[in-house]
Amino acid sequence: MNYGYFDEENKEYVITRPDTPAPWANYLGSPEYGAIISNNAGGYSFVKSGANGRIIRYRFNAIASDQPGRYIYLRDRDSKEYWSATWQPVGKNLDKYKSECHHGTAYTRFESTYDNIKMDTLYYVPLNKTYEVWKFKVTNEDKKVRNISAFGYVEFTTDSNYEQDSVNLQYTQFITRTEYIENKIVQHINENVDKNDKGSNGLERFFGLVGQEVTAYNGDRDSFVGSYRSYSNPIDIENGHCSNSLNYNENPCGALQTDITLQPGETKEMVFLLGAYDNEKANNIMKAYKDLSVTEKEIKELKNFWHGKLNNLQINTPDKNFNNMVNTWNSYQCFITFIWSRAASFIYCGLRNGYGYRDTVQDIQGIIHLAPEMALEKIRFMLSAQVDNGGGLPLVKFTHNAGHENTPDDAQYVSETGHPSYRADDALWLFPTVEKYINESGNIDFINEQIVFANTEEKVSVYEHLKRAIKFSMERLGAHNLPAGLHADWNDCLRLGKLGESTFVAFQLYYALRILKKYSVRLKDEEYIGYIDEKLKELKESINTNCWEEDQFVRGIRDNGEIVGSKTQPEAATWLNPQSWAVISGFADERQTKLCLDTVYKILNTAHGTMICYPPYKDHTFDGALMTLFNPYTKENGGIFSQTQGWIILAEALAGNGDRAFKYFQECNPAEMNDKAEIRKMEPYVHGQFVESKGSPFEGRAHVHWLTGTASTVMVSCVDGILGIKPSVDGIEIEPCIPKSWDGFTMQKNFRGKQLNITVKNNSHIEKGVKKVLLNGQDLVDKHIGFEQLKEENEIILYM
Ligand code: NOJ
Repeated sequence: MNYGYFDEENKEYVITRPDTPAPWANYLGSPEYGAIISNNAGGYSFVKSGANGRIIRYRFNAIASDQPGRYIYLRDRDSKEYWSATWQPVGKNLDKYKSECHHGTAYTRFESTYDNIKMDTLYYVPLNKTYEVWKFKVTNEDKKVRNISAFGYVEFTTDSNYEQDSVNLQYTQFITRTEYIENKIVQHINENVDKNDKGSNGLERFFGLVGQEVTAYNGDRDSFVGSYRSYSNPIDIENGHCSNSLNYNENPCGALQTDITLQPGETKEMVFLLGAYDNEKANNIMKAYKDLSVTEKEIKELKNFWHGKLNNLQINTPDKNFNNMVNTWNSYQCFITFIWSRAASFIYCGLRNGYGYRDTVQDIQGIIHLAPEMALEKIRFMLSAQVDNGGGLPLVKFTHNAGHENTPDDAQYVSETGHPSYRADDALWLFPTVEKYINESGNIDFINEQIVFANTEEKVSVYEHLKRAIKFSMERLGAHNLPAGLHADWNDCLRLGKLGESTFVAFQLYYALRILKKYSVRLKDEEYIGYIDEKLKELKESINTNCWEEDQFVRGIRDNGEIVGSKTQPEAATWLNPQSWAVISGFADERQTKLCLDTVYKILNTAHGTMICYPPYKDHTFDGALMTLFNPYTKENGGIFSQTQGWIILAEALAGNGDRAFKYFQECNPAEMNDKAEIRKMEPYVHGQFVESKGSPFEGRAHVHWLTGTASTVMVSCVDGILGIKPSVDGIEIEPCIPKSWDGFTMQKNFRGKQLNITVKNNSHIEKGVKKVLLNGQDLVDKHIGFEQLKEENEIILYM
């Protein structure tokens, strides 16, 4: 079933019917003020932290699964009928109620019509501002005069902390009250603590109306909704007037009513504003909207900002669904994971108040090709969260104080974060991320930049940080000379035992050594080059001796010596990640590459992607295989763990298999499920954490929207793998790996301020291999394009 389409030109996903199989969301805002909104205006907002800065209340996993939200109700004063500017919460019959939701880059717009009244509602957070705007336009399309009341409504939290607001009701319900002041509801929280000390827990929020006069208000949720009612039929709306009540204890809200009269064809506009500001600041903000056209300027700015970033790479290939994801939605999702990590969605409530080390270092990779300057800032931050022993802090607090943090070796860190010890993989993600950044930006000096550690103010170079990461792994090898799995590796659910060994980490380490060697060579660090060569050799021997099985690599070795992921086992006999990483890391030779990739295709591939392992654990599991807790074919237990799809696409592309790389891409591309939304359920424009695989009764159903490492991993596989964009310190090379049926494609890339207009011609219909490159009409001997050869704007033609 189809619920919408991609509007490529406007970079929007347009939802044409609002009764989607799940709330389909979008993100508005910035790190300073975040907001999530569904295709029925459900969702919430927060200042800085989803856990500690909540403004709009949201009930996770409730029956109306995206409520409450940012609602505008309408009521006809003559017929007494009422509805909402978005289909929900009133939910009129869809035969008569028409609604389109346009999710765009940091804004969401609704166009709805009901009973000859047209409504246009636009939600956004202005660029660099910390409040939100609901611009509302209502038009009378009737032949007669219509008397309409419009009601803006928001349910406030009583406490900014999500958990306190949700469960500590005997306390938080009694620290707040609302007040009506000049066209706005002002909410006070903890005002009795210290009226003069705004730095204390005291806090104010406002919900105001500009452009029309408030005719009535309500600051008390329960009197607005009424007993035994819901957001579909609040008593104030049914009665046609807000009761001018104010909240003192219990549940605060902001409801503002304005009564308007519309001549046939007439339009009236207004703006609702919401933020965590006191009355005085709110007045200033509201003043700025006196001329409502300011909203047009702001939305233009917002689009320019986001489209500017996304336009740094635009592609036009024969596959529209691929184009849509690379040009807009996968890229935008990468920015959202980069900003919000795993903190705030309809699934994540934000209580994990920090960045997962591996998550964020991987998230950064997804935006490097679009915004290297933003990536740099965060890479510095993550390096400053590396412990001086070389390991990464499993959780980097949002309040991270570089140089002064406790580590997993300290009881306080463990009790504060709940992370008992180091993970084997965290710091190893730095290698591809740092390399990718340096190659995109050309900023090779970064390798010498001095950065502190998490736990000491000692500053060392980025190069030294990377060396410490290697040392961390080398000091933690198991009985077979392979890196220990420690608390876990990338797979949260796999505990191999403290000295059990992980093949995945072994490949990561192999890859890290290869990357670091390039910098050692540059820095002429001869002794270290010798060390790397020796370790690469030792690692190769250990992996080949202990981890290669005829046509696949095993997943690891438990500390009791038992192999995990061996062909001889009845369950979890074949694993995906060791195969893809054997290739990505540059470890697998040609024969191993072919064999292990074929094994993945034969054993793990399904219509919706490749399973993480097969068969799932059920009766032959072990204590450390925590995934057994999950139903078979779900999550890490044989589900299609979506992040891993990016790695297998990349591996196939590196191996030169364009057809298979693209097939894997299509299998996991959300856009491919646009017409089967009833199966996938989740948004068709974003990746989720996993998809239920072939043995599940709900094969193809996706879960955990938006905030997932899938975004960056699949992005990288598209950019580096399929499109083959390979920048290096001194230039760029393009080596696509595409389906042989493609005649070619074009790309526009901003490369360090130079415009590259690239045309790829595949007249020979092959999957990989560039035989000739023309740069501005000149035939290059080498496929590599030197940066100094580039003009401001360049025409590049590649012949495959
Ligand atoms: C989700 C976690 O956020 C991520 O860090 C982990 O790698 C995957 N689960 C796989 O277990």
